[in-house]
Amino acid sequence: MAKVLVTGGKGFLGSHLAAKLAKTEDQVRIFSRQKGTNSSILRDSNYEFSWGDIRDSRAVENAVEGVDYIIHTVSNFRKGGSDKDDAYSTNVEGTENILRAAEKHNVQHIIHCSTIGVHGTVLEIPANEDTPFNPTDLYQETKLIAEKKVWEFYQKTKLPITVIRPISLFGAGDMRMLKLFRLIKQGKFIIVGDGEVLFHPAYIDDVVQGFLLCLGNERAFGEAFIIGGEGYLTLNELCGLIAEELKVRPPKLYVPMVPVLALATLCEKICVPLGIEPPLHRRRVSFFQNNRAFSIDKAKQILGYQPQFSLEEGIQKTIQWYQAQGWL
Ligand SMILES: NC(=O)c1ccc[n+]([C@@H]2O[C@H](COP(=O)([O-])OP(=O)(O)OC[C@H]3O[C@@H](n4cnc5c(N)ncnc54)[C@H](OP(=O)(O)O)[C@@H]3O)[C@@H](O)[C@H]2O)c1
Repeated sequence: MAKVLVTGGKGFLGSHLAAKLAKTEDQVRIFSRQKGTNSSILRDSNYEFSWGDIRDSRAVENAVEGVDYIIHTVSNFRKGGSDKDDAYSTNVEGTENILRAAEKHNVQHIIHCSTIGVHGTVLEIPANEDTPFNPTDLYQETKLIAEKKVWEFYQKTKLPITVIRPISLFGAGDMRMLKLFRLIKQGKFIIVGDGEVLFHPAYIDDVVQGFLLCLGNERAFGEAFIIGGEGYLTLNELCGLIAEELKVRPPKLYVPMVPVLALATLCEKICVPLGIEPPLHRRRVSFFQNNRAFSIDKAKQILGYQPQFSLEEGIQKTIQWYQAQGWL
């Protein structure tokens, strides 16, 4: 039985990873800033908790001591991307703290959760692990710096390490896509642009499978993997599928891209110097703008990864979960 540290284990991805690991009889330690949890994902198993901030090297060392494996998912993902210091210290310095502690405590394998966003705006479709990096916002830039630190560390220490770049996640516990589901249900979802942008969804249980296939797997050491769903579709098609499952009409409201982008830029220019989170920012608009279409072939070939859920099933399960929480 291995002991696995999941950093960010109370977050969306981290809680699903922790819950699945606990069910496979691994001992799971969750590193989190907040004491207590009412997460329904974590409800049915027992966990050890280690409290602290990823930027606090001592807290990180305490969390790492005595574990065999680390899955590092902490990031400032949910923040819009206006606070440079927070993005850098959390995504980059936090990752460096994990790496140093892992080396000191002879951890057997680290899985670093990066993001598909390090590839940024994708020109080549489908993009794969070798597609050039092209981050387009602060979050993606700092995630890329963190990933580069991971590779430098790997070159220097040869400590077993794997990088996973998940594609856009959805599923039970996610609040980000909830807005999309809600607005479609209410008939209020407005598509910026023509909706023909490509979107590549990744159902949470499939992504968890990808992480677990890597854990302790020598074939994954020193490798980066894109993990996500089987395929991609246009935003119009995605909205159509969600609407179908919700038994409502698909969105019909469209606004042109250029003025919305200008407004987002203006919001950032006004809010960021004042330290206010912009109500609209370019990263949100990029959802309607940047093609996201990726190949998961490397994970299939090396890990035997195979998504288990069709997009329709994933959407149905997500809707059921939102409804069970009374959120939809
Ligand atoms: N969701 C996606 O679509 C997606 C796609 C690609 C990659 N990813 C990557 O997947 C990982 C997990 O994302 P997620 O969607 O699960 O995000 P999430 O729900 O926001 O989880 C992130 C976790 O990080 C923790 N955290 C943030 N700052 C921290 C700090 N200073 N010290 C300690 N903990 C801190 C948060 O803890 P609190 O609860 O205390 O705030 C939260 O539990 C991230 O690395 C993200 O970059 C996500």
